Amino acid sequence: MIKFGGGLITNKSKMCTPDLGIIDQLVGVVVKCLDSGMKVIVVHGAGSFGHLRSKHWRLQEGLIEDIEITPQDDCKSQKMAVSIVRNEMLTLNSIIVEAFSKQGVSSITLPPHKWAKNTGSNFHGEILETFTTDKDVAITFGDVVDCDEGEFGILSGDDLVVRICQDVPNVSRLVFAIKGVDGILRRPPELATSSDLIENWSPSVEFKGVHNKEIDVTGGIGLKAHRGAEVAALGIQVLIVNGEYPDRIYRACTGLPTRGTQIFSE
Ligand code: IPE
Repeated sequence: MIKFGGGLITNKSKMCTPDLGIIDQLVGVVVKCLDSGMKVIVVHGAGSFGHLRSKHWRLQEGLIEDIEITPQDDCKSQKMAVSIVRNEMLTLNSIIVEAFSKQGVSSITLPPHKWAKNTGSNFHGEILETFTTDKDVAITFGDVVDCDEGEFGILSGDDLVVRICQDVPNVSRLVFAIKGVDGILRRPPELATSSDLIENWSPSVEFKGVHNKEIDVTGGIGLKAHRGAEVAALGIQVLIVNGEYPDRIYRACTGLPTRGTQIFSE
């Protein structure tokens, strides 16, 4: 299973801007994995396709009665924002699907707002049934989903990966491909040197991760690390690697040693 971080596949500070070069590179890695006999599930994030508008309309808090939020030219309410963000995510997804099909790979897209309800890794949804496919790759992504409380909320790709790893049998590895850092660092990236990479991380190891609350409505690297530890507890190898180096991602996916952080449950 591979998570394409939203910050990696988009320019995170510029509304709805994909990084087509990176997307092609990531798809190339998946193609190599398929060629070497692996099966691959792809989960992708939102980056500037979901976070900016979700943040503006506080979608992660659910429906808020009587809020006063500055309307945008194309969006006047939280409910409109829900449907716009869903469409923005479908647009980002279609760019990824297109990149797969250009490289000869068939895929099926499983938008969470169509099959999942509630947020967090114990959301409602029939994973096994949903992810059974004869296509080369199944793809899903962080999305705005319906919720029992608050009408809607944001289901992060980092929560999706946990549940998919729990419910789909025989997942051997989970790789998070992220932007700008080689893994979990001991110090904030702007202060870190190459020796600050934590090669083996478990929840007892402290670190100063970045979570850009101005932009992110989900959890940043801290959420990834803790979700990763839950997955590692299932006996699945979990790695965080710098997504700008395709060779590292490929090596991580095949279980070969590479620069990055391996996550352990304890
Ligand atoms: C966020 O999903 C989904 C929306 C904001 C709609 P993720 O939490 O998986 O996204 P990234 O990887 O942080 O962009």
